[in-house]
Amino acid sequence: MNILLTGGSGYIGSHTVALLAGAGNHVVLYDNLCNSHADVVTRLNRIVGRSLVLVQGDVRDADLLERTLQEQRIEAVVHFAGLKAVGESVADPLAYYDNNVTGTLCLLWAMQRCGVRTLVFSSSATVYGDPQYLPVDEMHPTSAVNPYGRSKLHVEEMLSDLAASDGDWRIACMRYFNPVGAHESGLIGEDPSGVPNNLMPYIAQVAAGHRDRLSVYGGDYDTPDGTGVRDFVHVADLADGHLAALNYLGSSEGAGWHAFNLGTGQGYSVLQVVREFERASGREVPYEIVARRPGDVASSYASPDKARLILGWQARRGLDEMCASAWRWQRYGERL
Ligand code: NAD
Ligand code: UFG
Repeated sequence: MNILLTGGSGYIGSHTVALLAGAGNHVVLYDNLCNSHADVVTRLNRIVGRSLVLVQGDVRDADLLERTLQEQRIEAVVHFAGLKAVGESVADPLAYYDNNVTGTLCLLWAMQRCGVRTLVFSSSATVYGDPQYLPVDEMHPTSAVNPYGRSKLHVEEMLSDLAASDGDWRIACMRYFNPVGAHESGLIGEDPSGVPNNLMPYIAQVAAGHRDRLSVYGGDYDTPDGTGVRDFVHVADLADGHLAALNYLGSSEGAGWHAFNLGTGQGYSVLQVVREFERASGREVPYEIVARRPGDVASSYASPDKARLILGWQARRGLDEMCASAWRWQRYGERL
């Protein structure tokens, strides 16, 4: 299949490119490189053993998108491109609505004009707001507690309206829980610029000695050890989930709008992750328990049953593999 991956040189996009290209698809990366490097494509070329196409462009550039869809004879789009930092979205909401909502709107117009009507969208567990029950299934009410979350929710609603208006659309919204880990080759991984917001890259930098200690945000939650609990899911499992979604959308049942949780169904606490990372790296991870981070919830984990039953997808990699691959990437990634 000919597949366009917007945001294809980013963290989750690059792992999905590696999988889809490795499975023999013609993949085209479309990325403005605002949060990734062209060097990722050189690394992907090494992984897949051939030269991949990167179109350097913005999803808000409808002309370039249309040209790319036509010239590359694209049949399906996986839409990763977007901004993702919650705090930044509170400080600069217009940038988030512009990139995430207007960007998706431009993409949809271009797809409609070119007759491409199969789309897999990167959504997030953030669309569930504060969990009202656990595990969170796809029937859980949606809400948003910050502009980033609202941008994802707006797009999901837009996609649902579109699918309802025209039965030719085949759309899957993939609601990721906490993506972590890196490719088994050690060649690609998460590459946050500046101080990492997320737990796993922060721990990796502490283990490597680049930062003194981890601040654990809150030790008094109603969880087994008092620290936050999340559903960490290996990025390679997420990539498998996108392949499964594309296969499903292409099947006789794929028409319409669908939402799927991508998580393991198992919650781990911040301190469990610290301990597992110490085991995987053989390094100490000093930490200090500090005040709760505003906006955080005690626990969030998925019911992945729908993805298992309908897509035949299940996360296969455990926390040990998540930590080991994140450490390999932290330690050797840049030098490979
Ligand atoms: P990332 O920043 O590594 O990748 C996003 C890519 O999109 C980057 O390469 C960036 O350069 C590109 N991009 C951004 N705006 C663009 C635009 N206007 N035009 C073209 N390219 C653009 O992020 P990621 O972690 O790989 O996330 C991918 C998607 O998954 C995002 O939509 C994000 O909101 C969603 N998501 C991520 C997480 C997570 O924890 N990583 C969780 C839930 C959902
Ligand atoms: N944490 C720390 N110290 C840190 C970083 C995180 O203790 O330095 C804790 C957090 O308090 C939380 C857990 O580690 O308990 C996970 O935090 P992350 O920032 O890694 O992930 P979140 O669950 O907060 O956020 C993720 C995505 C968001 C998305 C959200 C809800 O990064 O994009 O899930 O789906 F909005």
